[in-house]
Amino acid sequence: MTKVAILGFGVVGSGVAEVITQNGASIAEKTAQALELKYILDVRDFPDSPFADKIIKDFAIIEGDPEVDVVVETIGGAKVALDFTRRALAAGKSVVSSNKELVAQHGHELLELAKANGVSYLFEASVGGGIPILHPLSQCLTANKLSEVRGILNGTTNYILTHMIGTGLSFEEALKEAQARGYAEHDPTADVEGLDACRKICILASIAFGRHVYPNQVPTKGITQVTLADVSYANAAGMKVKLLGRALRQGDKVMAYVAPHLVRDANPLAGVEDVFNAITVRGNAIGDVMFYGRGAGKLPTASAVVADVIDASQHRKTSRYLSWSEGGEDYVLGTETLKSQWFLRLNSSLKELECLGNVMPLGRPGAPEEEVGVITEAMTQVELEKRLGGRTPLSVIRVLDESADLA
Ligand code: HSE
Repeated sequence: MTKVAILGFGVVGSGVAEVITQNGASIAEKTAQALELKYILDVRDFPDSPFADKIIKDFAIIEGDPEVDVVVETIGGAKVALDFTRRALAAGKSVVSSNKELVAQHGHELLELAKANGVSYLFEASVGGGIPILHPLSQCLTANKLSEVRGILNGTTNYILTHMIGTGLSFEEALKEAQARGYAEHDPTADVEGLDACRKICILASIAFGRHVYPNQVPTKGITQVTLADVSYANAAGMKVKLLGRALRQGDKVMAYVAPHLVRDANPLAGVEDVFNAITVRGNAIGDVMFYGRGAGKLPTASAVVADVIDASQHRKTSRYLSWSEGGEDYVLGTETLKSQWFLRLNSSLKELECLGNVMPLGRPGAPEEEVGVITEAMTQVELEKRLGGRTPLSVIRVLDESADLA
């Protein structure tokens, strides 16, 4: 019997309680590990919850209870959650987390602490919600030299973009719907400004390339400046606008960033809709492999958390597979040297854009006469700015390059 404590009874924490309780018998049958939920820590009261008798407010009770083997941290943020995670690991308890902010900022330190205490720190649910990605990346693909990890890493923004494209909803309307469905972060700024995707690409890059990549090293742009006009030009050209996180190996360094991209319809990432996420990993033996599924939501995320709880309970008093080294100030490169084609929307004439070199003009229904949309040839951002010579486009979006050779 493995006794579990959940920290934080929000969307994910309550989903974990439900999955452990409702699927308890089948989990015990399949894994020979019975799970028992002993405590739920939260500052709030939940008198009407079926779990009301498990709610406590003092973390020291969990910390000091030798019966608790696994602590599930679904508090979020990097303050209280950091303190409780350190204390739980130091007390010899494995910790399972869905908290991408904490892992992206303190993953290396917490993994080392887990190892020093002979327990596990597992966080499959922190990237891609219910999609198994961290385990395959750190185990099943180890034989490969990986060259890139790229993906749609945020369900809320993908939901918004899908509904802007499909039903012409405004950004605000689509965001409200995503929040009502429980996909968005407590503060949706983290979703729409790309911070959530940034944290996730940091975790993926750290596992894929073996050294910690920190959020402040990753240039990040969200979708707040993407307009219905951009989406419409992209559609007319057989492309979709998608928010992508990318991490690319560059010799012994890494380049990582988050930004909206135009993705050609032929690329499977273009067909990833609503709250679904997808992550493509490129390795020199396997080529491209793609992971797809529900990237947010109560039960999909709880599914990944409970799988980690089972894993930790099956490997008590030993540290499970995850680890990476410390990063470093000069480890992560900026995107200045990354060439791509660019989508530009400008108030200009095509004639005035000869300075850009060869461009492919695009059209969209209802475009104002003075507006043009074009796709440039491949060049770096520095080169693009030089050629624009001080002109400020209404929109500038990278086009995803699919032709890059395998490493
Ligand atoms: N707010 C996140 C998203 C939740 O929309 O993807 C899952 O990490």
